[in-house]
Amino acid sequence: MEPDSDSMSAPQAAARLPALAQPVAAPLTRAAIFLVATLNPGFDNRRTVLSLCGDLAALVRAVEFRDLEGGLSCVIGFGSSAWDRLFGPPRPAELHPFREFRAGARHAPSTPGDLLFHIRAKRMDLCFELATQIMARLGNAVSPVDEVHGFRFFDDRDLMGFVDGTENPRGAAVTDAVLIVDEDPSFAGGSYVIVQKYLHDLAAWNALPTEAQERIIGRTKLSDIELDDSVKPTSAHNALTTIVEDGKEIKILRDNMPFGRPGHSEFGTYFIGYSRSPRTIEQMLENMFIGRPPGNYDRILDFSRAVTGNLFFVPSATFLENLAEDRSNEAQTSEEQTSEAQPAVAQSPEAPAVAEASSSIPSVRDGSLGIGSLKGDKRHE
Ligand code: HEM
Repeated sequence: MEPDSDSMSAPQAAARLPALAQPVAAPLTRAAIFLVATLNPGFDNRRTVLSLCGDLAALVRAVEFRDLEGGLSCVIGFGSSAWDRLFGPPRPAELHPFREFRAGARHAPSTPGDLLFHIRAKRMDLCFELATQIMARLGNAVSPVDEVHGFRFFDDRDLMGFVDGTENPRGAAVTDAVLIVDEDPSFAGGSYVIVQKYLHDLAAWNALPTEAQERIIGRTKLSDIELDDSVKPTSAHNALTTIVEDGKEIKILRDNMPFGRPGHSEFGTYFIGYSRSPRTIEQMLENMFIGRPPGNYDRILDFSRAVTGNLFFVPSATFLENLAEDRSNEAQTSEEQTSEAQPAVAQSPEAPAVAEASSSIPSVRDGSLGIGSLKGDKRHE
C-alpha cells in the first residue's frame, strides 16, 4: 500500500534521524538467543548494568570478529521500571509495563523482565559466546528469568508447520515501521519491542486437517500463499494482525523463532515484534486474545498459550555510546581529583557516586541524543 502523501518517506525519515539505531532491522538469522533478566537492587548492580550498556558494542565487535561472516548482532531493551532505575528522566513517551489481555481461557500474561538481550547470528556458537560474555560482565547484578535458544526450522517455518515472517516489511519500509522519529524527538532512533513465549499443543494442532489450519493462519501451508478474502475468515491470524490507520497499514517487524525440547514435549514459538509505537502490537494482541469484534478471536490460541509477556524500550546505539562516554569522563574526573590531592571520599555502596541521569531537555543538534550525563552535568545543552 502506498504511504499517505503527507507522511514522511522512510529515506527522508532515515536522513533526519539524529541517532544511530541499534541493529533492530538485522536480517533474519539461523540462530538466536532471547535472554530476559531482572535487575537486582542496589547501586553497584545499577552501575554494573550501565557499564555493560556502554561497552556492549565493543563486546559484540570482539565476538563478531571471530567470524565476520557470522552476522552477529545484539539488541538490548529496557523495561519500564528498569528505565527509571537506570536512567531516570526523561522517559520514552510510550514506555509502560506490558499490558495483559484476558478473555475466556485465553491469557496474555505480563511476566517479570527488566532487560532483554536479543542476540542473533548465523551460527549458534556466536550467539552462545556473546550471551556468555554478557552474563560474565553482569554477574550478580541481574537475575535471568527466561532464556530461549531459537533455531530456524526448514524454510522459515514455525513448529506448527507454517512459514513465519513472509509479510514483514522490507527495505526502507523497515525503518518506517520500527524507528521513532518526530513523535518523540528525545528518543529518535529508538524502538519498542514486545516479546512473548508461546507453547504449542502440537498433538492437537496436528490432528486438525490442513485446510482447517490454513483457515486459522490465513495462508496455505505448503506454498505459503495468502488465502483469498472470499475464503479467509475474519478470525484468521493474518486478518486480526493487520492494522490499518487512516487508510495506511501499520507494519511491525517480527523475528519469531521456533524453540523446544522434544524429550519434554515442549514445542514453542518465541514471538518478538519491533515497532515505533507499542500501540500497534497491543492492538494486534487485543484482536488476537479478545477478538475483533470481541469473541472473533485468533484460533491459534486454542492450540498455543502465551507463558511470558514483556514490553521493552530499545534506545538508539548513540544513547548507549553516550553512556560509555559518560563513564570515561567520570573516570577522568576522578583521576584529576586524585592528582590534585583531593581527599578520597569513601562511598557507601548504596550512596550514588554519580547523580541520576540529568533531566535536562535532550538536544539532538550535535547528532547525539543528549540523554544527559550520569554525573548530572548539562554537556548537551
Ligand atoms: C503462536 C504464536 C504465533 C505464531 C505461530 C505466528 C505465526 C504466524 C504466521 C505463520 C504468519 C503468516 C506468515 C507471515 O506473514 O509471517 C504470521 C503473520 C503475522 N503475525 Fe503471527 N504468529 C504468532 C504470534 C503473533 C503475535 C503475538 C503477533 C502480534 C501481536 C503476530 C503478528 C503477526 C503479523 C503482523 C503477521 C503478518 C500479517 C500480514 O500482514 O499478513 N503474530 N504469524
